[in-house]
Amino acid sequence: TAASTAQLVLAARASGRGTAAFNVITLEHAEAVTTAAEQNGLPVILQISENAVRFHGGRAEPLIAAAAAIARAAAVPVALHLDHVEDEDLLRAGIRAGVTSVMFDASTLPYEENVRATARLAAWAHDHGDRVWVEAELGEVGGKDGAHAPGVRTDPDQAAAFTAATGVDALAVAVGSSHAMTERTAGLDHELIARLRAAVDVPLVLHGSSGVPDGELRRAIAAGMTKINIGTALNIAYTSAVRDHLGADPAVVDPRRYLRPARDAMTATASQLLRIVAG
Ligand code: G3H
Ligand code: ZN
Repeated sequence: TAASTAQLVLAARASGRGTAAFNVITLEHAEAVTTAAEQNGLPVILQISENAVRFHGGRAEPLIAAAAAIARAAAVPVALHLDHVEDEDLLRAGIRAGVTSVMFDASTLPYEENVRATARLAAWAHDHGDRVWVEAELGEVGGKDGAHAPGVRTDPDQAAAFTAATGVDALAVAVGSSHAMTERTAGLDHELIARLRAAVDVPLVLHGSSGVPDGELRRAIAAGMTKINIGTALNIAYTSAVRDHLGADPAVVDPRRYLRPARDAMTATASQLLRIVAG
């Protein structure tokens, strides 16, 4: 069933759990994540990034319509989120097309400009949807270009000022994770997470969660991180299954022959992570 990100994240937070939010690129990603959520009887967030929209030709509407149909047909609550949006037109188009939350990513701008742009977008979003939720990033999680340069950690006082000044509903914070890690070796700053939790009222979002080991994820959720964003872990599962299949069967032509194991591998990965995040 279709749900809103706000519902899922606030319910998780109220029970001291996390909500997993998976980045989906292909139809198979969305199917795998939804199947994994159904197998575990857990709600889930499907997120489509600006990069994924560009990959599919730049128009958000058809992708959101497809994801919304999958959400409606699911046996568990599924919410749709637009992730890492820098293009304000895309953000507006996504909200008009029915996503229940957006991440506006102005984290590379200087602080004052991040505040101004985020506040403007949040005000617009809150006027244009019943329960639209706006997530912003403060500090730099880093690694989006595949390089794991340590970003700038989020300062708790600045986080409090930023959420008050912008009216955002959730805050992505830089606490030691990094995007696109293919090994689960990230160590998180748990003391900083606790300080951020104490300083900020809105739910906190962990980006780059693929590189965070299970134990670190559990501790982070216990300390107050709620929305747990996962992308690369699914792509590792997908690509290694495809590579194995193509290696073993060089004559294959029908893509279903290798997309089925790829989808199954993503389902298994999503299932494991859903369980960790739900506690
Ligand atoms: O917004 C998306 C996430 O931060 C995913 O990061 O691909 O490193 O898991 P990841
Ligand atoms: Zn991210």
